[in-house]
Amino acid sequence: MRIDRFLANEGLGSRKEVKQLLKAGLVKINDIVVKSPNQHLDVETDEVTLNDHLISYQPFVYLMLNKPQDVVSATQDNLHPTVIDCLDGAYGHLELFPVGRLDIDTTGLLLLTNDGQFAHRILSPKNKIPKTYAARVTDEVTAEDQEAFASSMDLGDFVAMPSELEILGYDADLNQTDTHVTIYEGKFHQVKRMFEKVGKEVLQLERLQMGSLVLDENLDFGRWRELSETELEHLLSNL
Ligand code: URA
Repeated sequence: MRIDRFLANEGLGSRKEVKQLLKAGLVKINDIVVKSPNQHLDVETDEVTLNDHLISYQPFVYLMLNKPQDVVSATQDNLHPTVIDCLDGAYGHLELFPVGRLDIDTTGLLLLTNDGQFAHRILSPKNKIPKTYAARVTDEVTAEDQEAFASSMDLGDFVAMPSELEILGYDADLNQTDTHVTIYEGKFHQVKRMFEKVGKEVLQLERLQMGSLVLDENLDFGRWRELSETELEHLLSNL
């Protein structure tokens, strides 16, 4: 890994800022001052110091979790188990946090990381990352509802970007419709509020996809795995 990336990853400043630290001769690798940001190091074996303080290597971690119900998208909570509790102490020292939130009763794809910059880019509305949900709702969803979703829907405190509503099937006995919805922001209760706007109530909500990243169907509720290099690259290439 390049020394400038290593220092930036460890939270010591932006790439530009860490270049200044290097230029000032404050950084050593194995007791030798390095000034070049291109200098490579082996993160497993080389010792890096800043002002003679050892910088221990804290790798970035990117996990996908299949969030179960009754678990909150937070790192700490007094009432409910959190998504971090799902990890059973794994990565405990790496201070992971959820990238955005799913409601307590929403299941499915949730990213956990300790890379703040990555989380910021995923969540930024500017990047318009599509998020696809499976939503089971009351009543029969109509072509009119699809049109309402496809135009900018005014939800009072904000106007949602046009979204896609796909009807998978209507169960007349239960008077319920199964749908897929793709939205481009992630406002509080957004999918539920959009359905409410067209007179339907969401009975079940599961996030299936974020950008190119698809929920791994082999993950049971509450289970997680690291993203593959390819998944991470694809996700980042669209930001
Ligand atoms: N929209 C909602 O209403 N709830 C979620 O958890 C996610 C999107």
